Amino acid sequence: MASATDTDRVHLRRAIELAGRGRGHVGANPLVGAVIARDEIVLGEGWHERFGGPHAEVNEIGATLYVSLEPCCHEGKTPPCTDAIVAAGIARVVVASDDPTEKASGRGLGILRDEGVEIVMAGGDLDTTARLLNQPFRKHARTGRPWVVLKLAMSLDGKVATQAGDSQWISGEESRLLAHRWRAVLDAVIVGVGTAVADDPQLTARPEGPPVTSEQQPRRVVFDSLARLSTTSRLVGSAAEVPLTVVVSRAAARADTDALEAAGAQVLVATGENEPARVCSALDQLGAMGVTSALLEGGPRLAGAFLDAGEIDEVRLFLAPILLGGRTARDPLEGQGVELIAEAHRALSFDWERVGDELLISARLREW
Ligand SMILES: NC(=O)c1ccc[n+]([C@@H]2O[C@H](COP(=O)([O-])OP(=O)(O)OC[C@H]3O[C@@H](n4cnc5c(N)ncnc54)[C@H](OP(=O)(O)O)[C@@H]3O)[C@@H](O)[C@H]2O)c1
Repeated sequence: MASATDTDRVHLRRAIELAGRGRGHVGANPLVGAVIARDEIVLGEGWHERFGGPHAEVNEIGATLYVSLEPCCHEGKTPPCTDAIVAAGIARVVVASDDPTEKASGRGLGILRDEGVEIVMAGGDLDTTARLLNQPFRKHARTGRPWVVLKLAMSLDGKVATQAGDSQWISGEESRLLAHRWRAVLDAVIVGVGTAVADDPQLTARPEGPPVTSEQQPRRVVFDSLARLSTTSRLVGSAAEVPLTVVVSRAAARADTDALEAAGAQVLVATGENEPARVCSALDQLGAMGVTSALLEGGPRLAGAFLDAGEIDEVRLFLAPILLGGRTARDPLEGQGVELIAEAHRALSFDWERVGDELLISARLREW
């Protein structure tokens, strides 16, 4: 197979950059960007702007097509992109990353090859960049579960709440505004009922700048086996404006789940013998509803269950310059944990940056 030239790499990098512009707008669809060019001359550009809107490749048809994701060959909310590419007489398609969806995975490229279109897979760093851009879509396509980012605010001595349970606020304003931006581009925000009761949060996205539209607000999800969440809480009080899901177990009393539903919350029943199994059951159900990404905002007990279930894909930790002390002050992760260092969940990537007074440490644990 022919390899990508330097000019190809310039156009493809641009296509990946354009793909990123769809973030927060494409729902369960992948982020896709495309550039049409003849040698150095760019004839057109496009990206997948809205869920169910015309796919990026169809927006711009011309000579050589550079696309961040393998073109689709199936009928969805729009006709197959492969048909449009062939109809436009495109001679060459340069692709950054594959589409892991069962109905795609190389089929679109096969169809194009059969039609005489030359296919170039870029590989290398462009493939990696394009895949990292679409982690939620890729995990959801392969497992049916949302991609999960654990967000934590931790003191220098490794605590996420004081011995009295206070955690507001360990991180400063800049860090909290950044977390609001993450909420606005992810499909869901998840907490345990311990946090919902202790902090009475709203869990809506309230970043700086223009207000977030109601359709950009994340679904709020509370893991609450016994449906203890009060109907007078701020979460339930705002359920009519921003969707709220309460994940209960079979042990929840009917009267309590009925009261939550009557107040506008959706109730899901997670099944399984233990907490990690119920995490998986809930993620399966959220994934089936089209939730492809989630910000897990604690607390320690729920986060530990997610870790034990192997369902933390990335960690974003704000390390704050404060000390809390206290033997019973809370650690960030509970659950069973591992026995041996050799069994540790080791990060694939590890980065840090300064945000206000804090250090933001990001670690990717799994790659899809
Ligand atoms: N600094 C930070 O970043 C941060 C973030 C969040 C919270 N916090 C602090 O952490 C504390 C609360 O944490 P927490 O550990 O007590 O509570 P939590 O993790 O928020 O909630 C735990 C509860 O969730 C319920 N649950 C339902 N399904 C579960 C499942 N599959 N796995 C595990 N739990 C499940 C359980 O109660 P049921 O059995 O009754 O359902 C469990 O007791 C507060 O002090 C809060 O301020 C700090």
